Amino acid sequence: MKILAIETSCDETAAAIISEENQRPMVLANVVASQINLHQEYGGVVPEVAARAHVESIVPVINKALKVARTKLSDIDRIAVTQGPGLIGSLVVGINTAQALSQAAQKPLFGINHLAGHIYANFIKRSQTEPTSMPQFPLVALIVSGGHTLLIYMKKHLNFQVIGCTLDDAAGEAFDKGAKILGLPYPGGPAISSWAEKGKSLYSFPVIDLTAKAKRNADGFWEKPDPSLDFSFSGLKTALLNQTKKIKLNKKEIANLASSYQDAIVKTLVRNSLRAIQKYRPKSFILAGGVAANRLLRESLSREIQIQFPKVKYFIPALDFCTDNAAMIGAACYFYPKKMAQRELEPQPSLELKPLS
Ligand code: KG4
Ligand code: ZN
Repeated sequence: MKILAIETSCDETAAAIISEENQRPMVLANVVASQINLHQEYGGVVPEVAARAHVESIVPVINKALKVARTKLSDIDRIAVTQGPGLIGSLVVGINTAQALSQAAQKPLFGINHLAGHIYANFIKRSQTEPTSMPQFPLVALIVSGGHTLLIYMKKHLNFQVIGCTLDDAAGEAFDKGAKILGLPYPGGPAISSWAEKGKSLYSFPVIDLTAKAKRNADGFWEKPDPSLDFSFSGLKTALLNQTKKIKLNKKEIANLASSYQDAIVKTLVRNSLRAIQKYRPKSFILAGGVAANRLLRESLSREIQIQFPKVKYFIPALDFCTDNAAMIGAACYFYPKKMAQRELEPQPSLELKPLS
């Protein structure tokens, strides 16, 4: 099977060609035209600017992917495109292009959930020589991106059950907003993590726990609620802002604040991930989304899972497949059943991740 995948949900115009190797999606081409330079001067993604840039890049990016994979459109079996969640103006560009190609070339069209794509980045086989280990079910996934922070339980393919989510900011958003407070460039995640390398975690920022307090039940006994799997990061951002007002912000202190702030985000993510593993006892644990590129998070999770749950297999995507790309959209499509093909697709900016099987 060969899949042409298109991803334009935010600020990367991406196309990929996926083929199959040992019943697993393998990448033949993965092309990403980043718009980071366009948005950097505004300190964040400007939706109108993003949509216009997608229009300019989409056809060259698809052509390049086909060329790199030495594939013609006529050899493609499926066309996959991100249907949501994302920015409406950005989604429309990818969807219209995919739909036009699907109708012109008479190929089945699949609308893919962007978050499912992040999860399936962990199922990609990168080369023919790579060992064939794949995540096993049941699994728990932590999706950490610019717009989402979710813990997902899957007992089989496409059976996405949300078991934890953020009540306010997403983890990536916390990095981006924190960077802005510290005067660091967009995107904030890579900026904070590289400044953090030069600093020390001297400040103590809140590691918010949303677990409810113990309560006395009707029989008069104290009842301890289950530890919460939900997240909250907005207080952390305020704590950072307040701290910056109290001190003189020189390079050394920016590095110390970045390190302390990153520590608090990572500690929160690791704590809830371990709670989810404790509760759901999965065979595999998957890290996914742009923040999965964070070295401290990758290493802390790896270490803690190995110590506390040595039987759980831990998967992280290669760095190229953490932040937005189309290979992950093609990889998810590989597991979508044939009957999920659609003739026409509507963009769904707030598409939720829910069981599809
Ligand atoms: O998944 P993604 O590319 O786009 C969305 O679907 O949102 O994630 C982008 C987010 C941004 O918030 C960015 O700051 C964050 O991922 N990010 C990182 C790192 N690289 C990207 N956060 C922490 N550390 C990183 N190294
Ligand atoms: Zn994403």
